Amino acid sequence: MAVSNSENIYTIAPVKFIRATRALLLFIINHYLKMLFLGVLLTLLFSLSRLSDATELVKRGSLEQVTDFGDNPTGARMYIYVPEKLVHNPPIVVAVHYCSASAEIYFSGTPYAKLADTHGFIVLYPESTNEGACWDVSSDKTMIHNGGGDSNSIASMIRHTIKHYKSDTKKVFVMGSSSGAMMTNILAATYPELFAAASVYAGAPAGCFYTGTVAGWNSTCAQGEVVGTQEYWANVAKSMYPGYEGLRPRMRIYHGSADTTLYPQNYQETIKQWTGIFGYTDTPKGMFGSDPADPYTRYAYGENVEGAYGIGITHNLNMFGHADLEWFGI
Ligand SMILES: *[C@@H]1O[C@H](CO)[C@@H](O)[C@H](O)[C@H]1NC(C)=O
Repeated sequence: MAVSNSENIYTIAPVKFIRATRALLLFIINHYLKMLFLGVLLTLLFSLSRLSDATELVKRGSLEQVTDFGDNPTGARMYIYVPEKLVHNPPIVVAVHYCSASAEIYFSGTPYAKLADTHGFIVLYPESTNEGACWDVSSDKTMIHNGGGDSNSIASMIRHTIKHYKSDTKKVFVMGSSSGAMMTNILAATYPELFAAASVYAGAPAGCFYTGTVAGWNSTCAQGEVVGTQEYWANVAKSMYPGYEGLRPRMRIYHGSADTTLYPQNYQETIKQWTGIFGYTDTPKGMFGSDPADPYTRYAYGENVEGAYGIGITHNLNMFGHADLEWFGI
C-alpha cells in the first residue's frame, strides 16, 4: 500500500506527522503498561512478604504466649521465645518448669533463652495450670500417648511450633527440673517420636510417681522406695506408647546425692529405665570427674544414656546449659 511505505514519493508531511504521533503514543502506552505491571508485581511481592511475616507466631526477642496451638485437653499454657536471629529450620528446646514456677520464671531462671540468642533455636516453655503449678506426672491419661493429659497438651505445642517455624524434626529436645524432670521422662516415653534427646534435672522415672489422680503426690516414689529392675522400668516406659518401634531420645540424667525431695535412688531407677530401653547394662562404661563441673561426675552407660551425679548436691540442682546443647548436638 502506497501510503504506508515511507519511501513512497507520494507520502506527504501530515501523514508523517500522524505516524510519528501514533508511534509516540504507542511507546508511551507500552511504557506505561510496563510500569503498571511492575507496580502491580511489586505490590504483590510486598504483600506476599507481609503474608510470610504473618505466619510467625509471635514477636521475636521476648517471651510470648501462643493461644491456639491445637488439642489442649488440660488447658496448659504455651509460651515461646523466638530469638531475633533464627537459624533455618530452627531446633526447638522444650523447657519444662518445676512446681510453683511458671513459664516466665523458667524463662528468666534458666540459661536456654540466652543460648537461643547465640545459637538461633526456639525455646518452648509450657506452663502448668494445675494446682500448685505442678505437672500431672501421676494420672493414667498423662502416661499414655495421646491420652488427654498434660503430656498430650505439650505434644500439641511442639507440633504447632514445628509446623510454623519449619523446624528440623530431628532437632527437637526436651529438658525439665523436678516436676518438669518427671514430665521430661514421661514425654520421652509417651512421645518418643518427637524428641532426639532429653535432659532430666532431679526427676524420677516415667511412671514412678503414679497415683491414678491428676497432679498427685506419690511419696513412696519421692522417697526412692519404688525400686525395680531394668526390665520393670523399661516396660513401664514402653507401656506409655504401646506398639511403638521407632527411634527414642538420648537421655541425660542429672541428680544430686543430697536430694531430699526426690531422693537420689530415683537417679538409679531412671538410669535403669533408659539403659533398659536401649539394652545397656546399668553399670557405667565411662566415668568423668568434674564433668560438667565439680562436684559432679558424668557417667556414660552407652551412646544414648548418660548420668551426671553431684555429691552433696540437693534438689536445687545446677543447670548446665552448654553441656545440654552439646548433648543435644545444637
Ligand atoms: C506410687 O507409685 C508406685 C509406682 O511407682 C505405685 O506402686 C504405688 O501404688 C503409688 N502409690 C500411691 C499412693 O499411689
